[in-house]
Amino acid sequence: MAPVITIDGPSGSGKGTIASRLAEILGWRCLDSGALYRLLGYSAERAGIAFDDVKQLAQMALKMNIEFREGRVLLDGEDVSLAIRTEQAGNAASKVAALPEVRETLLTWQRACAVEPGLVADGRDMGSVVFPAAEVKIFLDASAEERAQRRYKQLIEKGLSANLTSLIAEIRERDDRDRNRSVAPLKAPDGALIVDSTALSIDEVLKRVLARVYQVLPELE
Ligand code: DC
Repeated sequence: MAPVITIDGPSGSGKGTIASRLAEILGWRCLDSGALYRLLGYSAERAGIAFDDVKQLAQMALKMNIEFREGRVLLDGEDVSLAIRTEQAGNAASKVAALPEVRETLLTWQRACAVEPGLVADGRDMGSVVFPAAEVKIFLDASAEERAQRRYKQLIEKGLSANLTSLIAEIRERDDRDRNRSVAPLKAPDGALIVDSTALSIDEVLKRVLARVYQVLPELE
């Protein structure tokens, strides 16, 4: 299997930004696994499928035709990049992600992304479940307040509406669900470098992550 770097962490910890910057620097492919759960949550809501209808959701996950192209996310050919970034889609994602059957269905799809020269994968269970043999594992964390602030800025910049107080509450609720679910809960995998990004800039986080990557894989420097 091609080399893999996993970046796990809670919502808004900056893992998406770090993963794509790292992939760009290394010339590797990048997997945003959260987008898969967001796509499924969004599609289920749109199709009126209940978040506990395991059979239909797993079937939908199997049938989804997903393409990541030039920073856009296409679902059956339709550009849904913005639609899946809303808090509503994030909450729907967190609910469907708690179902073992759904996670199992998405496993093969995710593992198939590990192609040469390498893959940077971000999510909640990349280092613990999807790529347990990854060469480098990172766990990015930050306080709920800081993460809500970041999400607030992102949403406003994208022209979407946002409310800081409800964002903090939603982030806490989502954390709780992601950390306490029975299957693949959010937690730092064994051997991961834990980086608390609350008081760090993106460049500072990237510097620490790169230092670990070059320490383990010196041939990449
Ligand atoms: O990273 P994100 O906010 O886009 O993820 C959306 C939801 O998807 C998140 O609340 C939990 C779920 N998720 C997951 O369970 N496992 C992953 N590997 C990635 C995301």
